[in-house]
Amino acid sequence: MWKGRDVISSRDFTRHDLEELFDVAKQMERYAKSRVELLKGKIMGVAFFEPSTRTRLSFEVAMKRLGGDVIGFSGAEGTSVEKGETLADTIRMLDAYSDIIVIRHKYEGAAKLAAEIAESPVINGGDGAFNHPTQAMLDVYTIWREFGYVDGLNIGIVGDLRHARTVNSLLETLVNFDVRVFLISPEYLRPRAETIDYIQSRGMKYSFHNGLEEVIHELDVVYVVRIQKERFLDPLEYEKVKGSYKITLDVLKNAKTNLIILHPLPRVDEIDHKVDATPYAKYFKQAALGVPLRMALIYLILAGP
Ligand code: NCD
Repeated sequence: MWKGRDVISSRDFTRHDLEELFDVAKQMERYAKSRVELLKGKIMGVAFFEPSTRTRLSFEVAMKRLGGDVIGFSGAEGTSVEKGETLADTIRMLDAYSDIIVIRHKYEGAAKLAAEIAESPVINGGDGAFNHPTQAMLDVYTIWREFGYVDGLNIGIVGDLRHARTVNSLLETLVNFDVRVFLISPEYLRPRAETIDYIQSRGMKYSFHNGLEEVIHELDVVYVVRIQKERFLDPLEYEKVKGSYKITLDVLKNAKTNLIILHPLPRVDEIDHKVDATPYAKYFKQAALGVPLRMALIYLILAGP
């Protein structure tokens, strides 16, 4: 059941929820470049306090393709809306003017706070370094669309596993499937202890690795994230790990033929542009699937069963 729900943390969604979402998203694919008047008269309020390209645009396009409208803003960085109390007032305003709210914020917990204040459903478009649940839904949807299933796959996650909120949410989403996860990063960039505790409590199979080369031949999916420079508390730690991995054609020479490479984007230097031309590269397709996936999400929350 999706109707009226907030989307704050990936932990709140079951395998059944995800399968229902994916089925509807697949049906939405045929309208992702046209229009279907399912949400005529409904308004989405977007409050993006942190930079975004894909998440904001795909949410806005999704709402418009469904026949709805969008209000809101992006880039209130440095203004008084960053203060806790004013965030609450901004959310109250959006709540009064719209039927569903999407928020992105640099502080962990901002989306939860918004959900407590607003009567309308609130969707977390990424807050702080920990949660980005709709990106994870999109990531697993892309895997499901590419393979036709998720169970049984070997999934390598490469990069800044500590500060990338997409990684935490992806792991919290993948616990619903029978996958094996290879966590590939310098030791300092391994996921936070609370993430590891959670996946362990859910019985997920996982292992740590320093380099992609040692496991590439086993993987069905390689999920890459950039080093999240802006989230390092200590710039010296960033200097130590920056540029510590790069996916090149050479790294991929022992890859399975049907390997897929995903990336939530933006990419900085962690995937060589030469990889874009290989059949492994699915990150632009993944970004495009953000529209039907988010159409399904908004539709189910506002008008679902
Ligand atoms: C990510 C984010 O904002 O967390 N981008 C996205 O939403 N697709 C990933 C990132 O910034 O590295």
